[in-house]
Amino acid sequence: MNPVSRSVQGQENLNPDPSSGAGGSGPLLSAAQRSNLLPLTAAGYAWWRARSLRSLGADFTLEREAALFRALCRPQAGQDWLDVGTSAGFYAGVLARADCRVLAVDLSAPMLREGAKREPDARIDWAQLNMERSDLPPASFDGVTVGATLNETRGPAALLAECARVLRPGGQLWLMYLRRTGGPLQAVFERPKAGGLNFPDPAWVGRHLPGLIRTDGLSAGAVQFERYVKGTDPQGAHGAAGRGVWETL
Ligand SMILES: C[S@@+](CC[C@H](N)C(=O)[O-])C[C@H]1O[C@@H](n2cnc3c(N)ncnc32)[C@H](O)[C@@H]1O
Repeated sequence: MNPVSRSVQGQENLNPDPSSGAGGSGPLLSAAQRSNLLPLTAAGYAWWRARSLRSLGADFTLEREAALFRALCRPQAGQDWLDVGTSAGFYAGVLARADCRVLAVDLSAPMLREGAKREPDARIDWAQLNMERSDLPPASFDGVTVGATLNETRGPAALLAECARVLRPGGQLWLMYLRRTGGPLQAVFERPKAGGLNFPDPAWVGRHLPGLIRTDGLSAGAVQFERYVKGTDPQGAHGAAGRGVWETL
């Protein structure tokens, strides 16, 4: 049983359409976010995801990424996890196979349909939410996974704050993102019309997670993996010890 009620799970919580006049100025979704609302993007996502880290200079298969996550976070049977920007459900599937209950959320209905098709598992619930302001109950998850959603969301600071808010004390936050390299391609993709992507510096991420301790950080090319724990005990609620190291793989 997921701690989040069905009514909240079913809630559509997209940013309002800018043309409706609700909300502030400027586009409310980045171009990258809008591209993920297309059924074609969703249909091709799992294919791209299986190759993406290698194309981005990190020698990482999905199996290796899953093994790294399991080794550092040690998800336990019966825990409640939230997968933020689940797309085709990669982390949701890894967690369900560890016998966790998972709420897999995404802005994009086509992505959620693709995830549910690829990871048909009763331990996973799927919900369309904007995790920059989700209305999920506070302190309701033992762990949160964010696989590259930080790069695409319009407001990465708001998304991090929301992830921290929904974590229980001692809960774990797992991040995978492309960090800032200062390279020319990143400068292109940061432009609003070319995607409006974010390439956060790990120090920036840390500053936006007050109340969480970074226990692990690993870099592979531009790809960054980080584990944080909410509260003062870096062992986390379930004894998953961080190694307290920064490594370049
Ligand atoms: C790079 S993909 C994520 C891949 C997936 N986490 C994985 O590890 O395979 C980013 C996803 O996040 C979703 N997304 C972007 N911003 C979001 C937000 N604010 N709230 C929820 N989902 C978001 C997009 O629709 C897209 O499906």
